[in-house]
Amino acid sequence: MSSNEKNNDHLLQAPRGTRDFVGDTYDRKADFYRQAEAIARGYGFTGIETPVFEHTEIFTKGVGEGTDIVDKEMYNFTTAGGDRLTLRPEGTAAVMRAYIEHGMGSMPQPLYLYYTGPFFRHEKPQKGRYRQLYQFGLEVMGGKNPMYDILTIKTGYNILKTSGREISVQVNTLGSVSERQNYLEILKKFYQEHQSQLAESDQYRIETNPLRILDSKEPSTKTINEKAPLLQDQLGEASKAYFDAVTKGLEDLGIPYEVVPSLVRGLDYYEHTVFEYVTKDEQGANSLALGGGGRYDGLAEMIGHKESVPAVGLGLGVDRILEVAHDDAYLDTSRKKVSIIAIGDKVIGEAIKIAGIVAGSGCEVLMQATDSNPGKPLAKAEKAGASYAIVVGEEEIAKNTVTIKNLTTGDQEERSKEDLQDYLMKH
Ligand code: HAM
Repeated sequence: MSSNEKNNDHLLQAPRGTRDFVGDTYDRKADFYRQAEAIARGYGFTGIETPVFEHTEIFTKGVGEGTDIVDKEMYNFTTAGGDRLTLRPEGTAAVMRAYIEHGMGSMPQPLYLYYTGPFFRHEKPQKGRYRQLYQFGLEVMGGKNPMYDILTIKTGYNILKTSGREISVQVNTLGSVSERQNYLEILKKFYQEHQSQLAESDQYRIETNPLRILDSKEPSTKTINEKAPLLQDQLGEASKAYFDAVTKGLEDLGIPYEVVPSLVRGLDYYEHTVFEYVTKDEQGANSLALGGGGRYDGLAEMIGHKESVPAVGLGLGVDRILEVAHDDAYLDTSRKKVSIIAIGDKVIGEAIKIAGIVAGSGCEVLMQATDSNPGKPLAKAEKAGASYAIVVGEEEIAKNTVTIKNLTTGDQEERSKEDLQDYLMKH
């Protein structure tokens, strides 16, 4: 037991890898969601919300054994009734479960769905890596055409552009399942022949998930990877044509992209198109992925459905987007702040009525109460960035007026209560 635990100090800190959103950090996240939703809705997406936990097998079967997420990062628990459940590490398998459960396949296809919210991965916490992370996700379910892949990438791109940063897309194709299977056999054989030269942490993946070895950051594995066979050489004409259509679409739309053959993504349900969004950091190096996605035509069957449901989607990493975004990207300054200062207990009811008028004219209210001198509340209003302060005292109430102080110029004027809304709208 650490000394921290002995004196219970840790109880007063959010668990490792989690954090509180207050003040500006709360507002920026909310504003990102507002803008992202507006863009997604503009492209015809509608919202879906699934529970934050699912049956564990949705993820072990969907995301796949042998992936980091399933092997190391899931928050699993068993209920008193014996159900094995998992805090969702990602959204796609859960949304597909909902699609199947509600028979959405019988609705006009495809369905365009978006979702937001917290996801849970027991990763080593560091900048851009949280244990409770937030995603904005898009899924187009029930359609196979490169247009859906392109539209998904474009919608995600437009959302990421609201950060004010230059965004580019890394894209690759994994081919069809059978092409990939074929390739996996070839790759396995190659790694078996070079097993002793691989980093130890990669050796066990030869049997479980050789594709992930391609993505390894270990120097010794990277050297071997330079000679590894390429999936691109195993693709048939149909898969190549599909991928060409996707890249042509990106070109037509002017979306900066790069084909990255080593991009395999860390989830098993993908086939054909996969992609990630990146931006350059101050040193010009690519930052952690701001989002990623791809096509997952086989997922429905992986989690137990009798038919395949062709689908494509993405998840944007909200925490990372907020970290790289320009300072003013997600600060909604369109609403004027107005402080209402009630002087004395007798005017409280009237002051709250005035707050209703002020809020009704589209302003944000900051209420303050004082016994006599409004000096301190006025200073506080200025500090909080209020444009106006409205002082409400017994004298004003008797005259049915309010005193409005412009905190930028220092000017002060008295207006009738009826004029207030009109005044705030015009100023
Ligand atoms: P993913 O690549 O695992 O994909 O996650 C999507 C994004 O979530 C990442 O690009 C990253 O920005 C963010 N992210 C992931 N882990 C963390 C973390 N620990 N802390 C902060 N941010 C993180 C998926 O989850 C798929 N469901 C995406 C998808 C949807 N594919 C098809 N449809």
